[in-house]
Amino acid sequence: MNNIRRLATKTLLVSSCFVALFVSGFIGSVVAAKEPSPARSLSLQTANVTHILFGSCSHQDKAMPIFNAILQEPADGFIFLGDNIYGDTEDMQELAQKYKKLGQNPGVNALRSKVSVYAIWDDHDFGENDAGKQYSFKAESKKIMLDFWNVPEDSPRRSREDGIYGSYVISPTNVDIEEAGVSGSNAIRVILPDLRYMRDDLESVGLKRYQTERKHKDMGPYTYSKGSMLSEQQWQWIEIELQQPERIKIIGFSLQLIADFTGWESWANFTDRQRLFDLIKKHRVNGVFIISGDTHWGEISKFNTNMDYPLWDVTSSGLTEEWKQVSPNKHRVSGYTDEVNYGFFTVDWNLQDPSIHFGLKDLKGTVVMQQNITLSSLSPYQP
Ligand SMILES: [Fe+2]
Repeated sequence: MNNIRRLATKTLLVSSCFVALFVSGFIGSVVAAKEPSPARSLSLQTANVTHILFGSCSHQDKAMPIFNAILQEPADGFIFLGDNIYGDTEDMQELAQKYKKLGQNPGVNALRSKVSVYAIWDDHDFGENDAGKQYSFKAESKKIMLDFWNVPEDSPRRSREDGIYGSYVISPTNVDIEEAGVSGSNAIRVILPDLRYMRDDLESVGLKRYQTERKHKDMGPYTYSKGSMLSEQQWQWIEIELQQPERIKIIGFSLQLIADFTGWESWANFTDRQRLFDLIKKHRVNGVFIISGDTHWGEISKFNTNMDYPLWDVTSSGLTEEWKQVSPNKHRVSGYTDEVNYGFFTVDWNLQDPSIHFGLKDLKGTVVMQQNITLSSLSPYQP
């Protein structure tokens, strides 16, 4: 940890988060794409509507009253997008103990007993603030993480040597996928990359420039890096995932993709962000939608530069963590919330052009920001 990162940790207490994505479907079931997934669901919903909920940054030492609201939501899945615990240790027994404490939280425990839960990690559950490929205990941390989240022993998430990334398909049970084919069904592919295991080093402006040029703007110390967020192998995996037939592809990133420019760790710092945009255009991929965490505030970003359709990025953070010095983001479209929040993504497949309702809700389950769009607005490419 360099001095700037110590500063970021100790002075500013901003930390990357693992956002939780809550994938739920009215009368929905979760169908494993690459690997099996927990087969529990809350079947409280109307036919042919899929509900996805998500969030990030849940500190295991804190009460989590926001789950009282989350548990009222009809849902058949919950995906934690990162900083699911604040591990921050090289002691693997301590890391495992912190996961155990998260699992003992009544809200988390109730959620896991009712719905399918998915998780990726961010820096703090990976093991160290803003850590990347240099973190010494990443293999050990990986096993503890996948064990806690009940990822099956035969999952490729366990066997890959460059991270914990994986994908899932969520499809209503009232659709015969065998007959309709996956592309003909109302399926959502949830793609969960790993932004930690192979991430190259961050670049910072240095302590002096941070203090004189950034801090008073509520910006972090990081600047552009020539490095990569992902291994080449994971990039190739994402390229294959994007070409799968589901009409909607939600990519859950532990860091913001679209926000620009906060000065904190995000995709905007890495030149290989453009590679994702290029892949979407190259393969004419409809229906890509981004959710993210990490920031300790919530916001919606929209990006349309040189794209054939807008890329939305809904950042939900955190489930327990809050940060009041909200950084600039030129792509923010709905203001921000600096209070605890969770995200929702609902698709009504009953319409010829399915409607999508997404946004953020607060501690009480009240909507704090929202957007309504149609699937056709994300689908410019003809087969
Ligand atoms: Fe966090």
